[in-house]
Amino acid sequence: VFLKQWESQVRPYIEMIDYLRRIGIEKDLALPSIAVVGDQSSGKSSVLEALSGVALPRGSGIVTRLSTGVKTAKVKCWLKLDSRDPLPRCAGDLYGSFTCRRFTSEENVLAGDGVGICDELISLEITSPDVCDLTLIDLPGITRVPVKGQPEDIGDQIRRLILKFIEKRETINLVVVPCNVDIATTEALRMAQGVDPNGTRTLAILTKPDLVDKGAEADIMQVMQGKVVPLKKGYIMVRCRGQSDINENIPLAEATRLETEFFRNHSHFSCLLKEQKASLPSLTEQIQIRLSAVRLELRNYGQGPPLEPEKMGAYLIRDEVREMTENYEAHRGRELITFSDYC
Ligand code: GDP
Ligand code: NA
Ligand code: MG
Repeated sequence: VFLKQWESQVRPYIEMIDYLRRIGIEKDLALPSIAVVGDQSSGKSSVLEALSGVALPRGSGIVTRLSTGVKTAKVKCWLKLDSRDPLPRCAGDLYGSFTCRRFTSEENVLAGDGVGICDELISLEITSPDVCDLTLIDLPGITRVPVKGQPEDIGDQIRRLILKFIEKRETINLVVVPCNVDIATTEALRMAQGVDPNGTRTLAILTKPDLVDKGAEADIMQVMQGKVVPLKKGYIMVRCRGQSDINENIPLAEATRLETEFFRNHSHFSCLLKEQKASLPSLTEQIQIRLSAVRLELRNYGQGPPLEPEKMGAYLIRDEVREMTENYEAHRGRELITFSDYC
Protein backbone atom coordinates (compact mmCIF):
# COMPACT_ATOMS: atom_id res chain seq x y z
CA VAL A 1 0.00 0.00 0.00
CA PHE A 2 2.75 2.41 0.97
CA LEU A 3 4.67 1.78 -2.25
CA LYS A 4 1.54 2.33 -4.33
CA GLN A 5 0.86 5.59 -2.56
CA TRP A 6 4.50 6.56 -2.99
CA GLU A 7 4.33 5.88 -6.73
CA SER A 8 1.11 7.80 -7.25
CA GLN A 9 1.48 10.62 -4.73
CA VAL A 10 5.16 11.23 -4.10
CA ARG A 11 6.71 10.21 -7.39
CA PRO A 12 5.07 13.02 -9.42
CA TYR A 13 6.66 15.57 -7.07
CA ILE A 14 10.09 13.95 -7.35
CA GLU A 15 9.74 13.97 -11.14
CA MET A 16 8.69 17.59 -11.03
CA ILE A 17 11.58 18.60 -8.78
CA ASP A 18 14.00 16.81 -11.12
CA TYR A 19 12.42 18.55 -14.08
CA LEU A 20 12.70 21.94 -12.38
CA ARG A 21 16.34 21.22 -11.55
CA ARG A 22 17.01 20.22 -15.14
CA ILE A 23 15.59 23.43 -16.57
CA GLY A 24 17.72 25.47 -14.16
CA ILE A 25 15.05 26.77 -11.73
CA GLU A 26 17.58 26.31 -8.93
CA LYS A 27 19.27 29.55 -9.91
CA ASP A 28 16.22 31.34 -8.51
CA LEU A 29 14.59 28.89 -6.11
CA ALA A 30 15.84 26.27 -3.67
CA LEU A 31 14.72 22.72 -4.46
CA PRO A 32 14.52 19.86 -1.95
CA SER A 33 17.60 17.63 -1.98
CA ILE A 34 20.09 15.72 0.13
CA ALA A 35 23.65 17.07 0.36
CA VAL A 36 26.56 14.93 1.49
CA VAL A 37 29.30 16.85 3.31
CA GLY A 38 32.52 15.78 4.96
CA ASP A 39 36.28 16.09 4.98
CA GLN A 40 38.27 14.71 2.11
CA SER A 41 38.32 10.89 2.19
CA SER A 42 35.83 10.76 5.07
CA GLY A 43 33.80 8.29 2.99
CA LYS A 44 31.19 10.53 1.29
CA SER A 45 31.27 8.79 -2.06
CA SER A 46 31.24 5.40 -0.33
CA VAL A 47 28.10 6.35 1.61
CA LEU A 48 26.44 7.59 -1.58
CA GLU A 49 27.38 4.38 -3.31
CA ALA A 50 25.90 2.29 -0.54
CA LEU A 51 22.71 4.40 -0.56
CA SER A 52 22.22 4.51 -4.31
CA GLY A 53 23.79 1.23 -5.37
CA VAL A 54 25.83 3.08 -7.99
CA ALA A 55 29.63 3.05 -8.19
CA LEU A 56 30.99 6.62 -8.20
CA PRO A 57 34.35 8.02 -9.27
CA ARG A 58 36.92 7.63 -6.51
CA GLY A 59 40.59 7.58 -5.73
CA SER A 60 43.02 9.47 -3.56
CA GLY A 61 43.07 13.24 -3.30
CA ILE A 62 39.98 15.26 -4.22
CA VAL A 63 38.07 12.95 -6.44
CA THR A 64 34.71 14.63 -6.45
CA ARG A 65 35.85 17.93 -7.86
CA LEU A 66 32.39 18.71 -9.08
CA SER A 67 29.17 18.45 -7.13
CA THR A 68 27.47 15.34 -8.41
CA GLY A 69 23.71 15.06 -8.42
CA VAL A 70 22.96 11.35 -8.39
CA LYS A 71 19.53 10.20 -9.39
CA THR A 72 18.56 6.59 -9.38
CA ALA A 73 15.32 4.84 -10.05
CA LYS A 74 13.94 1.33 -10.16
CA VAL A 75 13.29 0.80 -13.82
CA LYS A 76 15.44 -0.52 -16.67
CA CYS A 77 19.20 -0.37 -17.14
CA TRP A 78 20.28 2.66 -19.04
CA LEU A 79 22.55 5.54 -18.29
CA LYS A 80 22.63 9.17 -19.28
CA LEU A 81 24.94 12.01 -18.39
CA ASP A 82 23.42 15.50 -18.34
CA SER A 83 21.78 16.47 -21.62
CA ARG A 84 24.86 15.41 -23.55
CA ASP A 85 24.79 12.44 -25.88
CA PRO A 86 23.29 9.42 -24.14
CA LEU A 87 25.84 6.73 -23.37
CA PRO A 88 25.41 3.29 -24.90
CA ARG A 89 23.22 0.85 -23.00
CA CYS A 90 25.15 -1.33 -20.63
CA ALA A 91 23.88 -3.74 -18.03
CA GLY A 92 24.61 -4.89 -14.50
CA ASP A 93 28.00 -4.38 -12.95
CA LEU A 94 29.43 -3.01 -16.17
CA TYR A 95 27.83 0.40 -15.86
CA GLY A 96 29.68 1.06 -12.61
CA SER A 97 33.12 1.18 -14.13
CA PHE A 98 31.78 2.76 -17.28
CA THR A 99 30.27 5.64 -15.31
CA CYS A 100 33.56 6.20 -13.53
CA ARG A 101 35.58 6.54 -16.70
CA ARG A 102 33.16 8.73 -18.50
CA PHE A 103 32.47 10.86 -15.50
CA THR A 104 36.12 11.50 -14.74
CA SER A 105 36.72 12.78 -18.25
CA GLU A 106 33.65 15.02 -17.97
CA GLU A 107 35.00 16.39 -14.73
CA ASN A 108 38.21 17.22 -16.51
CA VAL A 109 36.36 19.06 -19.27
CA LEU A 110 34.45 21.24 -16.83
CA ALA A 111 36.98 21.73 -14.08
CA GLY A 112 40.00 21.88 -16.38
CA ASP A 113 43.00 19.59 -16.32
CA GLY A 114 44.32 20.94 -13.03
CA VAL A 115 43.19 20.15 -9.54
CA GLY A 116 40.87 23.11 -9.00
CA ILE A 117 37.13 22.78 -8.46
CA CYS A 118 34.12 23.87 -10.40
CA ASP A 119 30.73 24.68 -8.91
CA GLU A 120 28.60 23.60 -11.82
CA LEU A 121 26.29 20.77 -10.82
CA ILE A 122 26.74 17.73 -13.01
CA SER A 123 23.82 15.42 -12.96
CA LEU A 124 24.33 11.75 -13.31
CA GLU A 125 21.14 9.91 -14.00
CA ILE A 126 21.22 6.20 -13.49
CA THR A 127 18.35 3.80 -13.87
CA SER A 128 18.63 0.22 -12.75
CA PRO A 129 16.42 -2.47 -11.25
CA ASP A 130 18.81 -2.86 -8.32
CA VAL A 131 18.89 0.65 -6.91
CA CYS A 132 16.44 2.83 -4.98
CA ASP A 133 14.97 6.26 -5.74
CA LEU A 134 17.13 9.12 -4.55
CA THR A 135 18.33 12.54 -5.59
CA LEU A 136 21.58 13.29 -3.82
CA ILE A 137 24.34 15.84 -4.14
CA ASP A 138 27.91 14.64 -3.59
CA LEU A 139 30.01 17.68 -2.73
CA PRO A 140 33.79 18.04 -2.92
CA GLY A 141 35.56 17.17 0.34
CA ILE A 142 36.70 19.92 2.70
CA THR A 143 40.44 20.49 2.31
CA ARG A 144 42.81 22.74 4.17
CA VAL A 145 46.21 22.44 2.52
CA PRO A 146 46.30 23.01 -1.25
CA VAL A 147 48.11 20.29 -3.21
CA LYS A 148 50.48 21.13 -6.08
CA GLY A 149 48.70 23.17 -8.77
CA GLN A 150 45.73 24.13 -6.61
CA PRO A 151 44.87 27.74 -5.91
CA GLU A 152 45.95 28.99 -2.47
CA ASP A 153 42.33 29.56 -1.48
CA ILE A 154 41.06 26.11 -2.51
CA GLY A 155 39.81 25.51 1.06
CA ASP A 156 37.68 28.67 0.98
CA GLN A 157 36.42 27.91 -2.53
CA ILE A 158 35.21 24.50 -1.42
CA ARG A 159 33.68 25.83 1.80
CA ARG A 160 31.78 28.49 -0.19
CA LEU A 161 30.46 25.85 -2.58
CA ILE A 162 29.37 23.57 0.27
CA LEU A 163 27.65 26.46 2.07
CA LYS A 164 25.72 27.27 -1.08
CA PHE A 165 24.02 23.88 -0.78
CA ILE A 166 23.79 23.22 2.95
CA GLU A 167 22.43 26.63 3.98
CA LYS A 168 19.18 26.06 2.07
CA ARG A 169 16.35 25.10 4.35
CA GLU A 170 15.11 22.63 1.74
CA THR A 171 18.31 20.57 1.99
CA ILE A 172 18.84 17.60 4.30
CA ASN A 173 22.51 17.59 5.27
CA LEU A 174 24.22 14.23 5.63
CA VAL A 175 27.43 14.91 7.53
CA VAL A 176 29.96 12.15 6.97
CA VAL A 177 32.54 11.70 9.75
CA PRO A 178 35.02 8.82 10.05
CA CYS A 179 35.05 7.04 13.42
CA ASN A 180 38.83 7.32 13.64
CA VAL A 181 38.98 11.13 14.02
CA ASP A 182 37.97 13.53 16.79
CA ILE A 183 34.30 13.72 15.82
CA ALA A 184 33.33 16.75 17.92
CA THR A 185 35.87 19.03 16.22
CA THR A 186 35.11 17.99 12.64
CA GLU A 187 34.77 20.96 10.33
CA ALA A 188 31.86 19.38 8.40
CA LEU A 189 29.85 18.99 11.59
CA ARG A 190 30.70 22.58 12.58
CA MET A 191 29.58 23.91 9.19
CA ALA A 192 26.32 21.96 9.40
CA GLN A 193 25.67 23.26 12.93
CA GLY A 194 26.38 26.78 11.69
CA VAL A 195 23.58 26.65 9.11
CA ASP A 196 21.25 24.44 11.16
CA PRO A 197 21.84 25.28 14.85
CA ASN A 198 18.89 23.18 16.05
CA GLY A 199 20.02 20.19 14.05
CA THR A 200 16.57 19.67 12.58
CA ARG A 201 17.84 18.82 9.09
CA THR A 202 21.26 17.40 9.91
CA LEU A 203 21.98 13.68 10.08
CA ALA A 204 25.46 12.46 10.94
CA ILE A 205 26.88 9.31 9.38
CA LEU A 206 29.84 7.71 11.10
CA THR A 207 32.03 5.78 8.66
CA LYS A 208 35.00 3.41 8.97
CA PRO A 209 33.91 1.74 12.25
CA ASP A 210 36.35 -1.04 11.37
CA LEU A 211 39.24 1.41 11.78
CA VAL A 212 38.42 2.54 15.33
CA ASP A 213 41.40 2.32 17.67
CA LYS A 214 41.13 -0.44 20.22
CA GLY A 215 39.79 1.11 23.41
CA ALA A 216 38.01 4.01 21.68
CA GLU A 217 34.78 2.07 21.03
CA ALA A 218 33.04 3.29 24.20
CA ASP A 219 33.73 6.93 23.22
CA ILE A 220 32.21 6.30 19.80
CA MET A 221 29.11 4.83 21.44
CA GLN A 222 28.78 8.06 23.47
CA VAL A 223 28.80 10.01 20.20
CA MET A 224 26.24 7.63 18.66
CA GLN A 225 23.92 8.20 21.62
CA GLY A 226 24.08 11.97 21.08
CA LYS A 227 25.95 12.60 24.33
CA VAL A 228 28.81 14.51 22.68
CA VAL A 229 27.17 16.54 19.90
CA PRO A 230 23.36 16.24 20.18
CA LEU A 231 21.51 16.15 16.85
CA LYS A 232 17.73 15.85 16.49
CA LYS A 233 18.06 13.49 13.53
CA GLY A 234 20.79 11.56 15.28
CA TYR A 235 23.61 9.33 14.11
CA ILE A 236 23.94 6.33 11.85
CA MET A 237 27.01 4.11 11.64
CA VAL A 238 27.95 2.43 8.36
CA ARG A 239 30.78 0.20 7.27
CA CYS A 240 31.57 0.69 3.58
CA ARG A 241 34.16 -0.84 1.28
CA GLY A 242 37.74 -0.14 2.33
CA GLN A 243 40.52 0.37 -0.19
CA SER A 244 41.46 -3.32 -0.09
CA ASP A 245 37.80 -4.33 -0.75
CA ILE A 246 37.84 -2.06 -3.79
CA ASN A 247 41.20 -3.39 -4.99
CA GLU A 248 39.74 -6.87 -4.71
CA ASN A 249 36.67 -5.76 -6.73
CA ILE A 250 34.23 -6.70 -3.98
CA PRO A 251 30.79 -5.83 -5.42
CA LEU A 252 28.44 -3.48 -3.54
CA ALA A 253 25.99 -6.30 -2.73
CA GLU A 254 28.76 -8.35 -1.15
CA ALA A 255 29.92 -5.27 0.77
CA THR A 256 26.43 -4.95 2.27
CA ARG A 257 26.61 -8.58 3.44
CA LEU A 258 30.06 -7.96 4.95
CA GLU A 259 28.70 -4.87 6.70
CA THR A 260 25.90 -6.84 8.38
CA GLU A 261 28.39 -9.50 9.41
CA PHE A 262 30.73 -6.83 10.81
CA PHE A 263 28.03 -5.33 13.03
CA ARG A 264 26.63 -8.70 14.05
CA ASN A 265 30.00 -9.88 15.35
CA HIS A 266 31.31 -6.62 16.79
CA SER A 267 31.88 -6.66 20.55
CA HIS A 268 30.70 -3.04 21.03
CA PHE A 269 28.68 -2.07 17.95
CA SER A 270 26.46 -5.15 17.63
CA CYS A 271 23.93 -3.52 19.99
CA LEU A 272 23.35 -0.85 17.30
CA LEU A 273 21.86 -3.53 15.03
CA LYS A 274 19.53 -4.68 17.82
CA GLU A 275 18.51 -1.09 18.61
CA GLN A 276 17.65 -0.52 14.97
CA LYS A 277 15.52 -3.66 14.78
CA ALA A 278 13.82 -2.85 18.06
CA SER A 279 12.96 0.67 16.89
CA LEU A 280 11.04 -0.51 13.80
CA PRO A 281 7.71 -1.46 15.45
CA SER A 282 7.64 1.77 17.45
CA LEU A 283 8.45 3.70 14.27
CA THR A 284 5.41 2.19 12.57
CA GLU A 285 3.33 3.05 15.61
CA GLN A 286 4.59 6.65 15.65
CA ILE A 287 3.79 7.03 11.97
CA GLN A 288 0.25 5.70 12.55
CA ILE A 289 -0.30 8.12 15.44
CA ARG A 290 0.95 11.08 13.42
CA LEU A 291 -1.11 10.00 10.44
CA SER A 292 -4.38 9.85 12.37
CA ALA A 293 -3.62 13.18 14.05
CA VAL A 294 -3.01 14.84 10.67
CA ARG A 295 -6.14 13.21 9.18
CA LEU A 296 -8.20 14.56 12.07
CA GLU A 297 -6.69 18.01 11.64
CA LEU A 298 -7.35 17.89 7.92
CA ARG A 299 -11.00 17.05 8.52
CA ASN A 300 -11.30 20.12 10.76
CA TYR A 301 -10.33 22.35 7.86
CA GLY A 302 -13.41 21.25 5.95
CA GLN A 303 -13.49 22.86 2.54
CA GLY A 304 -10.43 25.06 3.15
CA PRO A 305 -10.10 28.64 4.43
CA PRO A 306 -12.98 31.06 3.92
CA LEU A 307 -12.52 33.48 1.04
CA GLU A 308 -14.18 36.48 2.72
CA PRO A 309 -11.43 38.89 3.80
CA GLU A 310 -12.97 39.55 7.23
CA LYS A 311 -12.89 35.81 8.11
CA MET A 312 -9.43 35.18 6.67
CA GLY A 313 -7.48 36.68 9.57
CA ALA A 314 -8.60 33.99 11.97
CA TYR A 315 -7.05 31.32 9.83
CA LEU A 316 -3.83 32.68 8.38
CA ILE A 317 -1.27 34.99 9.84
CA ARG A 318 0.45 37.16 7.30
CA ASP A 319 3.91 35.59 7.77
CA GLU A 320 2.51 32.09 7.48
CA VAL A 321 0.88 33.08 4.24
CA ARG A 322 4.17 34.39 2.95
CA GLU A 323 5.94 31.18 3.92
CA MET A 324 3.21 29.05 2.39
CA THR A 325 3.41 31.07 -0.77
CA GLU A 326 7.18 30.65 -0.92
CA ASN A 327 6.89 26.92 -0.29
CA TYR A 328 4.21 26.58 -2.85
CA GLU A 329 6.39 28.36 -5.36
CA ALA A 330 9.46 26.32 -4.51
CA HIS A 331 7.70 23.00 -4.62
CA ARG A 332 5.29 23.49 -7.46
CA GLY A 333 7.30 25.92 -9.58
CA ARG A 334 3.98 27.05 -11.02
CA GLU A 335 2.67 30.52 -11.34
CA LEU A 336 2.76 32.18 -7.95
CA ILE A 337 -0.59 32.40 -6.20
CA THR A 338 -0.59 35.50 -4.09
CA PHE A 339 -2.61 35.64 -0.93
CA SER A 340 -2.13 39.39 -0.69
CA ASP A 341 -5.65 39.91 -2.04
CA TYR A 342 -6.96 38.33 1.15
CA CYS A 343 -4.85 40.04 3.78
P1 GDP B 1 35.34 10.80 0.05
O1 GDP B 1 36.59 11.48 -0.37
O2 GDP B 1 34.77 11.44 1.27
O3 GDP B 1 34.33 10.69 -1.04
O4 GDP B 1 35.74 9.33 0.52
P2 GDP B 1 35.67 7.94 -0.27
O5 GDP B 1 34.29 7.41 -0.25
O6 GDP B 1 36.35 8.09 -1.58
O7 GDP B 1 36.52 7.02 0.73
C1 GDP B 1 37.86 7.32 1.04
C2 GDP B 1 38.59 6.03 1.37
O8 GDP B 1 38.05 5.46 2.57
C3 GDP B 1 38.43 4.96 0.29
O9 GDP B 1 39.66 4.27 0.18
C4 GDP B 1 37.36 4.04 0.85
O10 GDP B 1 37.51 2.72 0.39
C5 GDP B 1 37.65 4.12 2.34
N1 GDP B 1 36.46 3.85 3.16
C6 GDP B 1 35.22 4.42 3.08
N2 GDP B 1 34.39 3.90 4.01
C7 GDP B 1 35.09 2.97 4.69
C8 GDP B 1 34.78 2.08 5.79
O11 GDP B 1 33.66 2.05 6.34
N3 GDP B 1 35.80 1.29 6.23
C9 GDP B 1 37.05 1.31 5.66
N4 GDP B 1 37.97 0.49 6.14
N5 GDP B 1 37.37 2.14 4.65
C10 GDP B 1 36.42 2.94 4.16
NA1 NA C 1 38.33 11.14 -1.93
MG1 MG D 1 34.29 11.56 -3.01
